[in-house]
Amino acid sequence: MDEPLFECPTCGDLLDVGYDWSRAVLPERLEGFEEKWSVVGDPLAFSGVWQYHELLPFAAPDHIITVGEGKTVFQQADRVAPYARMNRGRLFLQYEGMNPSGSFKDNGMTAAFTHAHLVGATRAICASTGNTSASVAMYSAVDGQIPAVVLVGSGKIAYGKLAQALDYGVRVVQVQGDFDTCMKRVKEVAKELRLYLMNSLNPFRLEGQKTIMYRIIEGLLWDVPDWVVVPGGNLGNSSAFGKAFRELKSLGLISRIPRMAVINAAGADTLYRIVNQEKITWNDGRVDDARIAAFYRQMESEHRRARTVASAIEINRPVNLKKCLRALAWTDGIVEKVGDQEILDAKAQVSRGGFGCEPASAASVAGVRKLRQAGTIGPDERVVCVLTGHPLKDPNITVAYHTRTDEELADTYAGYGVRGATFGNRPILVEDNLDEIIAAIQA
Ligand code: F0G
Repeated sequence: MDEPLFECPTCGDLLDVGYDWSRAVLPERLEGFEEKWSVVGDPLAFSGVWQYHELLPFAAPDHIITVGEGKTVFQQADRVAPYARMNRGRLFLQYEGMNPSGSFKDNGMTAAFTHAHLVGATRAICASTGNTSASVAMYSAVDGQIPAVVLVGSGKIAYGKLAQALDYGVRVVQVQGDFDTCMKRVKEVAKELRLYLMNSLNPFRLEGQKTIMYRIIEGLLWDVPDWVVVPGGNLGNSSAFGKAFRELKSLGLISRIPRMAVINAAGADTLYRIVNQEKITWNDGRVDDARIAAFYRQMESEHRRARTVASAIEINRPVNLKKCLRALAWTDGIVEKVGDQEILDAKAQVSRGGFGCEPASAASVAGVRKLRQAGTIGPDERVVCVLTGHPLKDPNITVAYHTRTDEELADTYAGYGVRGATFGNRPILVEDNLDEIIAAIQA
């Protein structure tokens, strides 16, 4: 608790936060958390993360750093359901892009900043595909006591995210290389300069991300869905979600654990391959490390590098791989992958039915559509997709999708398997002429 330590000094594996639940003060039923809704003026009751403080009780209330994160939107998405091949009333979207920095990361960052203060950290660092850096930068700016450095890959970050990090005033270091390069370096730099690490290998971050699941249960009026579907990148979310359900079940606060589907982009499909092809499993904690190492060696020797329009999840070596395998075991989970075309089309459909999301997030909806077609998910099961990031994070790709011809689009994203805009909404260009404008409107 009082050390900024994220890996076991003996075996090098990641650490978990565990609690002595016998000392925790918990409501008898999840409904008990409703009491927080009526509390006015308490920042902890207002935060969608800390209203569940009792389920992540690693810090005393007066030590918590919060900006009011987690007040996100849970929607019964009847207008998106047909695209996902779900029946009416059965598809739900959890819009985590509605967080203050525009992504789910804030759920975790409030917990990580809280821990950073507990250990007396004076400076923080992260590697990022964009959202982690935006969130770290925002907390650093609001908090004002922990300056931060962010490492991002060159040319690998969506403009909305880069804009945030620059504007919030943190030091942005663009490293020539991709996210995996940055991830490797950030650990070295954090050790060398004794900086507090804000990536999801920090177990406290995952504690905050558990609350996304609590809010989904809250959205279903304290019932659990049949499926939770989430995009998989560095696999922090999926790891946290599994832990959340496992804890709730063992505390007797839920009676069953929903199944989890983790969706990879086809161009960044390490988890998919490890689980479905290599058949590597959690195996009660005895994960076959040698086979994972061999898998990565082969990946290097074939020069296979992650490549997807969903830049947030363009990741080769997910740091939470083993924790995710554990979560898959706990949730009877599965892994699917979807192509970039499916991701962009699903993203357009999400926008038409609601508030929108960034490309990586839409992998979840594309994943449901695919799992429905395969019959893995039934049309009447209750399915919740976690939409991880805000639509304005990556405006370039959205504008390209809607303004380019199919040929131009396929050309711009050559090598990504994008064929065109199935749901393109092209602006109509007209002269400054009343008749032309009217004709364009009525066409
Ligand atoms: N969706 C979005 C919008 C993300 O930004 C990320 C991860 C993920 C999904 C994947 O989540 O890692 O929990 O499996 N973004 C990280 C970043 C890597 O640096 O912002 P995960």
